[in-house]
Amino acid sequence: MLGVASAKTATPEIDWWENAALYQIYPRSFQDSNDDGVGDLNGITQRLGYLKEIGITATWLSPIFTSPMADFGYDISNFTEIDPSFGTLDDFDAMLAHAKSLGIKIILDFVPNHSSDECDWFKKSVAREPGYEDFYVWHVGKHNPETNQQEPPSNWISVFGGSQWTWVHERGEFYLHQFQRKQPDLNFNNPLVRERMLEVLRFWLDRGVDGFRIDAVPHMYERQNADGSYPDEPISGWGSNASAYDYHDHIYTKDQPATVQLMYEWRDFLLQYQAEHGGATRVLLAEAYSPVETLSAYFGNGQRQGTQLPMNFQLMYLNGYSNARQVVDSIDYWMNTMWAQHQTANWVVGNHDTPRVADRMGAHKVDLLNVIVNALPGASVTYYGEEIGMSNVQTPCTEISCDARDGERTPMQWSPLRHADFSTAPSTWLPLSPDYQRFNVKTERGVARSSLQVFKAMQQLKRSAAFMAFKQPGGFSYKALTEQVLQIVR
Ligand code: NOJ
Repeated sequence: MLGVASAKTATPEIDWWENAALYQIYPRSFQDSNDDGVGDLNGITQRLGYLKEIGITATWLSPIFTSPMADFGYDISNFTEIDPSFGTLDDFDAMLAHAKSLGIKIILDFVPNHSSDECDWFKKSVAREPGYEDFYVWHVGKHNPETNQQEPPSNWISVFGGSQWTWVHERGEFYLHQFQRKQPDLNFNNPLVRERMLEVLRFWLDRGVDGFRIDAVPHMYERQNADGSYPDEPISGWGSNASAYDYHDHIYTKDQPATVQLMYEWRDFLLQYQAEHGGATRVLLAEAYSPVETLSAYFGNGQRQGTQLPMNFQLMYLNGYSNARQVVDSIDYWMNTMWAQHQTANWVVGNHDTPRVADRMGAHKVDLLNVIVNALPGASVTYYGEEIGMSNVQTPCTEISCDARDGERTPMQWSPLRHADFSTAPSTWLPLSPDYQRFNVKTERGVARSSLQVFKAMQQLKRSAAFMAFKQPGGFSYKALTEQVLQIVR
């Protein structure tokens, strides 16, 4: 009892996620334990001690579920199974148990917007099996009398380019996919779909996870006209390629009002789960490239609570020329709304969809950014390898992968040894950085003021009394003293 009481006195009103040191693991690239050149769950388990060493309090894993890997796990064919390339459910349980013993929380990627087209649900929907007819977003399209062909229901362009609508001969209708063709969008207007997704959440909560990072939040719903047709999106004025995503303003396919309600529904579900099962707060991170006012709505309002951590990507828009005043503008953009209204903040350094800091801003800015995100109040979100200053790698297009984002997804650099100790396979799924003998955990452990040491020191500061007092009056301040000098006071 005493221990609990004194812990409460030290930080009266801070819940664990509010100033978490979060870390994103891209499982294919963290640690290979079975010599196939691809990272896996047992590999993560082996390396959890490292997360503890560097002060991480929670980690979110990119998808580990059964998948044909058309989008490396963001195309799920079974939401409650582990993909064999990552291991088994037993491996998952073992990883979770070890993480718990170290006090590290585990957050899973939850990809509700779409499944794989190889998911049984989609196959059943194509065949109009009872209960699955409207599991996805189907439409017969528009008849063109000149060609006597059906054309897509709307002009919507997918995030990866090309129409969002693909015709399925067997069903005689188009299905909607905001991402790849192999990622059909689930229909969240259908209560059966929402119910099924709650079952997915429950499945992983029952195994003991601490929360979810929700993928592609803005894309959950689309606007539909009263007659069932879909409205065309207006031209944005950006570029001239009519099949590129930026060609349109996505006023009907992003951030629709129902999405806000969905966040509240999911948070209610987690709150209810916690009330029934106890334990620490289960958390929702949201991936939403949306205006801060929209993120504020996703977070909640006086009546309803939504996602605790709508991820703040603002610092990812800085570049090598950004000066201190621009950094402050970027911080203000979040703080003027999210701190002012909700007393909450989080700072994302990078992710598997964005070139690394060393490439975006320059290798000499890596430590600077790590200091900023950990010196500011709130939670920090580090993409694996940023703590050692990894850079993007020029990756060849191969049969295994040919994705513009491969460069920021290369294997973690653990040591100067072969394949940086990531794997003992003959070759790895993506090549190691040519720089790994210089930038790696083992080497940087032994160098005073290496990126790794700076990062670890910042994590220690983040746990200090002064930093923990960030919600007290005067708990922090920041300003640009000149164009070159940013001051953060705690
Ligand atoms: C966002 C993920 O971060 C990205 O990697 C993926 O391609 C899309 N969502 C589609 O799931």
